[in-house]
Amino acid sequence: MAKKQGAAGEGTPETSVEALTIEEAEAELKRLAEEIAGHDKRYYEDDAPAIADADYDALRQRNLAIEARFPELKRSDSPSEKVGARPSGRFAKVRHSVPMLSLDNAFYDEDVHEFVARIGRFLGFKDGRALALLAEPKIDGLSASLRYENGVFVRGATRGDGTEGEDVTANLRTVEDIPEKLGKGAPEVIEIRGEVYMSHADFAALNARMAEEGDRQFANPRNGAAGSLRQLDPSVTASRPLRFFAYGWGETTKLPSDTQSGAMEAFRDWGLPTNPFMKLCADVEEALAHYREIEAERARLGYDIDGVVYKVNELALQERLGFVSRSPRWAIAHKFPAEKATTVLEDIEIQVGRTGALTPVAKLAPVTVGGVVVQNATLHNEDYIKGIGRDGEEIRGGKDIRIGDTVTIQRAGDVIPQVLDVDLARRPKGAKPYVFPQKCPICGSDAVREHDPKTGRTDAVRRCTGGLICDAQAMERLKHFVSRDAFDIEGLGSKQVEAFWRDGLIRHPSDIFTLAERDKGSLKKLKDREGWGETSVANLFAAIDERRDIALARFIYGLGIRHVGETNARRLARHYGTAEPFIEGAKAAADQAGAAWQELNDIDGIGPVVAEAVTQFFAEEHNLEEIEKLLKQVTPREAEKVASSSPVAGKTVVFTGSLEKMTRDEAKAQAERLGAKVSGSVSGKTDLVVAGPGAGSKLKKAAELGVEVIDEEAWLKLASG
Ligand code: IVH
Repeated sequence: MAKKQGAAGEGTPETSVEALTIEEAEAELKRLAEEIAGHDKRYYEDDAPAIADADYDALRQRNLAIEARFPELKRSDSPSEKVGARPSGRFAKVRHSVPMLSLDNAFYDEDVHEFVARIGRFLGFKDGRALALLAEPKIDGLSASLRYENGVFVRGATRGDGTEGEDVTANLRTVEDIPEKLGKGAPEVIEIRGEVYMSHADFAALNARMAEEGDRQFANPRNGAAGSLRQLDPSVTASRPLRFFAYGWGETTKLPSDTQSGAMEAFRDWGLPTNPFMKLCADVEEALAHYREIEAERARLGYDIDGVVYKVNELALQERLGFVSRSPRWAIAHKFPAEKATTVLEDIEIQVGRTGALTPVAKLAPVTVGGVVVQNATLHNEDYIKGIGRDGEEIRGGKDIRIGDTVTIQRAGDVIPQVLDVDLARRPKGAKPYVFPQKCPICGSDAVREHDPKTGRTDAVRRCTGGLICDAQAMERLKHFVSRDAFDIEGLGSKQVEAFWRDGLIRHPSDIFTLAERDKGSLKKLKDREGWGETSVANLFAAIDERRDIALARFIYGLGIRHVGETNARRLARHYGTAEPFIEGAKAAADQAGAAWQELNDIDGIGPVVAEAVTQFFAEEHNLEEIEKLLKQVTPREAEKVASSSPVAGKTVVFTGSLEKMTRDEAKAQAERLGAKVSGSVSGKTDLVVAGPGAGSKLKKAAELGVEVIDEEAWLKLASG
């Protein structure tokens, strides 16, 4: 985190402490308590401090000075009561040479069968060939990477964003489970990947100790582990009981085995802790049986797990399967069913989202589910409340949900809790069926359910037709634009966007970037607004300026195109490279027929629904106008091309005919991994055609256009470098 200049504390008015009236002092102590608590949260929990350490200290100093002058005004939640001033300095960053990825999730047995079937299809397995899987608990902690050179632990890092983590070497050295030296046979370099966690007993003891010492307690063992590992003072970490399980590896000069299970055995021999419930299963049925065994043991393990991970055991197959986006194709996390609780539905609130969707939110009597207090849960949509499912079928036996009902809610991991069922026996007399609004509660426009003529279905979601005139939609779009995975502007979160929007300061994304310029000529300066000051405004403008240079994927994601989440934004960015060809391509695809449309659909992972949403977005004049304004302010950075050293990097390849050594999917994934673009049709842009037996019209076209044609054998040679 870059240090920012500025002497005064954020939002601190110029009035000296001596000159404060008692009312002013009271108001300021309240504001300071809130502001400091906010910074503490950003620092300790989100790991995203918004101000420099010196500014933070100035806030605390001022709080102390006011309290010294007006001791009777000292608040019960005063920051001066909280021990542990914020330490100075931050962790150094560590770049992971092999990224730390995440896992795809499965919730039902069928999802796991589908995972195995997908692998079989990808690899071209003949029916009935079993796939050996290593099944092991998914530990609910935080991942760490331990680098050993010549068998000696030299550096440890957190996962961070998967590409870059924090250097927590000194802290990891204090974890007893982590050996300083690996046993005989360890290679020259190996990065051990695994999970740092805290046991239930240690967690309870730690919290009891924290309570005694008047410190803030941790919400759950995972937070306890994360908070303890990211301590700046290693002696504090040493006093926290952390543990470790190894489950994989990153960079290495030599692997001790050609199977996952073999590698794990070697790790164990080298002195690394591996989970005792790791089991090599001959096929998917055995893996599912092991899942049930682990589930039955779950309560007795003494630490939190949230599912079972299955990994293809043969490393050669893992290699062939590779990755999709940020998860390996060769592994999946089979999550345990969610936790449930019963409570009363006090009210139903309608929220209007970025795309105008009206979402009913259950306001609940607070209830604890799996250690977290839940007060809001989704009711999905109008039909769901009525007891009608996605395909018009009855759900919950057709029972509708009414205000006043006693309902069962469920919470799974980080997913928004949902209302599952209703207890009719406890329905209050006179409870009436819920009437879903037909008008947008924010702008009053008609809210309609779209009918898709292609599928003949009516959308389950009712949408506000207000578009740009709907304040809720406009505001949600802006919030999305500044959100963490989009522009992520420090100091400009949902709260600030709402306030600026209300005052007409920011109505469109591009307005954010003209804010500083407009503020210069304005009579009502930003620094004079409540909650703002000279320093915080300067910091905000600096943070905005920092984002004038932005990764293309973030730019695309920030536009808020329907169906274009982070992953699809990345796919689009990687394919088009820079903003201009993306925008031109998307505009040209409006006919949903020509070459540009084909190109969009050919991008790995982009299907017709996403492609249509993209073209629709660019068919709107006001979107184009806004993008043009935005591009005068920001410059999306060229997307990183994959594996640029490969001879096929940047080339457009077409596969045709049948392939013998690999499936079409595998060939496509391999080509993309090497940085090539794979297209379904031969055109002037095609660089290479890989033709197998039975190739027809595409081969002919290639000959006409003079495109180079090779066979599968030659392709494999080329691909292996
Ligand atoms: S394998 C290439 N195995 O789950 C993927 N992950 O959702 C490597 N985790 O970030 C992950 N227990 O922190 C793997 N036995 C296990 C795990 C495990 C916990 C965590 C890990 C990872 C996250 C992915």
